[in-house]
Amino acid sequence: MKFAKVSRIDVSPLFGNDISKKIEVAKLIDQASKESGFFLAENHGLDVQGLAEVTTQFHQKITPEEKWNLAIEAYNPQNKKQKRNGYYMPIEGKKAVQSFCILNPSFTADHPHIQAGTPMHEVNVWPDENKYTGFRNFQENYFREVLDFSKVLLRGYALALGKDEDFFEPYVSQKGSLSAVSLIRYPFLENYPPVKEAKDGTKLSFESHYDVSMITVLYQSKVQNLQVLTDEGYLDIPATDDCFLVNVGTYMAHITNNYYPSPLHRVKWVNEERLSLPFFLNLDHESVIEPFIPHSNDASKNEAITYGSYLQKGLSDLIVSNGQT
Ligand SMILES: [Fe+2]
Repeated sequence: MKFAKVSRIDVSPLFGNDISKKIEVAKLIDQASKESGFFLAENHGLDVQGLAEVTTQFHQKITPEEKWNLAIEAYNPQNKKQKRNGYYMPIEGKKAVQSFCILNPSFTADHPHIQAGTPMHEVNVWPDENKYTGFRNFQENYFREVLDFSKVLLRGYALALGKDEDFFEPYVSQKGSLSAVSLIRYPFLENYPPVKEAKDGTKLSFESHYDVSMITVLYQSKVQNLQVLTDEGYLDIPATDDCFLVNVGTYMAHITNNYYPSPLHRVKWVNEERLSLPFFLNLDHESVIEPFIPHSNDASKNEAITYGSYLQKGLSDLIVSNGQT
């Protein structure tokens, strides 16, 4: 299988103060966003090995009963407050993939949007601290760090779009971001349940979709599994375990009038124990970015949409088209 064009980009200059070096990175991000829509971010500075270890331990330890107690409402109707955060169950003989979704740790009981019951905001549930010592602390720190890192990447996107590097800064905050981390486990199974098949015969774990996000920042095991639709059909995306795989989400496509299209991609079925840990960078609930045509004064064709309602609709549409994960 041929590989799609997915370049490795050293993103470290985006952390610094040298604007000319940042513009060089922005040019590479611009090129990637117009080609496959994906790039590999190297020199990110995050502890991805620790993330993989802590997450693997969690998945190895968790019992069916604990999964049930933590499950989202779609699986456990008693957990009415958990539309997004919590455990996404495997179903024996039917569905192998399982995951644990973490929302913004700043959403505590006294947060204004928790108090108001605003959709998409939830107080995270956690497994027993005595059994999973340090898991919560590690994952909360990771959420904050990968959010900060994603905001650094947005500086590159902003420059690439001809804006000031802090253009996106007012729209996404540690206090209010609707971002999510998904700790997905694809298990190895002797008897794998039936999997879907694409029209071209490729066996799939997750069908073609666009990510509902600003950008997606993914860490995964070094097991090739993703494909992106290109002019030459579906092509493989290279797998690494030292970089983050970054791609444009649908809100970025919307606000840029598709100057950076969101790439259509899918997950191949691979019977191998592996992790897929996407961070979906979402803006704050009330954020609205006025759509524009980059490097042009022409009027936007797309209309402005508030992020919270945009996300709510996008996620429920995805469940309708691709099924409950
Ligand atoms: Fe995706």
